[in-house]
Amino acid sequence: MRKKVTVVGSGNVGASCAVRLAGKGIADVVVVDVLEGIPQGKALDILQAGPVEGVDIQIAGGNDYEPTAHSDIVVLTAGFPRKPGMSRDDLLWANYDIVKATVEQAAKHSPNAILVVVTNPLDAMCHVAHRVSGFPKHRVVGMAGILDTARFRTFVSQALKVSASDVVAVVLGGHGDTMVPLVRYSSVAGIPLTDLLDADTLQQIVKRTRDGGAEIVRYLKSGSAYYAPSAAVVEMVEAILLDRKRVLPCSAYLEGEYGIDKLFVGVPVKLGAEGIEKIFELRLAEDELAALHKSAAAVKELVNVMAPKLGMPEAAGVTA
Ligand code: 2OP
Repeated sequence: MRKKVTVVGSGNVGASCAVRLAGKGIADVVVVDVLEGIPQGKALDILQAGPVEGVDIQIAGGNDYEPTAHSDIVVLTAGFPRKPGMSRDDLLWANYDIVKATVEQAAKHSPNAILVVVTNPLDAMCHVAHRVSGFPKHRVVGMAGILDTARFRTFVSQALKVSASDVVAVVLGGHGDTMVPLVRYSSVAGIPLTDLLDADTLQQIVKRTRDGGAEIVRYLKSGSAYYAPSAAVVEMVEAILLDRKRVLPCSAYLEGEYGIDKLFVGVPVKLGAEGIEKIFELRLAEDELAALHKSAAAVKELVNVMAPKLGMPEAAGVTA
């Protein structure tokens, strides 16, 4: 029997995820949204691309969660995107209710699924998904690091005129203005970036990566990025469905790693059939660890605002 992936939300991110997933032909896809007709219409349209693309998966859209039952993976994209001038954190309360309501339904119908969270503010919404689903921590994972590193890799590839495929990048921390692109761990096919680019250029690339989402929001005006985010989601889904055990930067629930406790923050993880199968702890220099803790503290601030509503027993923390 084919695997099943549910995509919650049929907006730009959700629909792009559905198109890319359908194109891979590795799972049936169900798209759910509260908007009547939109998930149905988009799903039918994507289904009709099947004969041309040579894939035989089924894709259906609807407004209720019955057809999502027993999904292997649920991708949560529903929520409001940013407008120019907004930070991802400004979306907290607008998206809290949406993520809570959708996770309740998704978890009820697919109690063994792995949740891939995409809605912003990403790391905070991972907390909502984790708390509301009651799923173990390895079955809740946030998409952000792959997108942030993809931006970093793109800018490095442009600066050096080399294939972005050969650029290896590491970005840690929350998916926000405090994210930590780790230049020291980044390379071009093993050649340290610091040997290839001067400090000023590297700083510009780090800054442009941090502002990568906002740069696109400024162009689009109503809405945020969706092509690169959906590509990142599909990389995660594929790693899980095919048990590829990929090592990818994702938002994961930390319990002491990096001196960070009870917080979802972006770190390198092993993604396979069980979801997050391992968290890798990099050896960080003092300034790198301080930057990561600053980023974790920004996530903690949002989480603590939501904690009473979520009935969370203890405040999240940065322990080191
Ligand atoms: C971004 O960085 C939408 O958060 C997403 O573009």
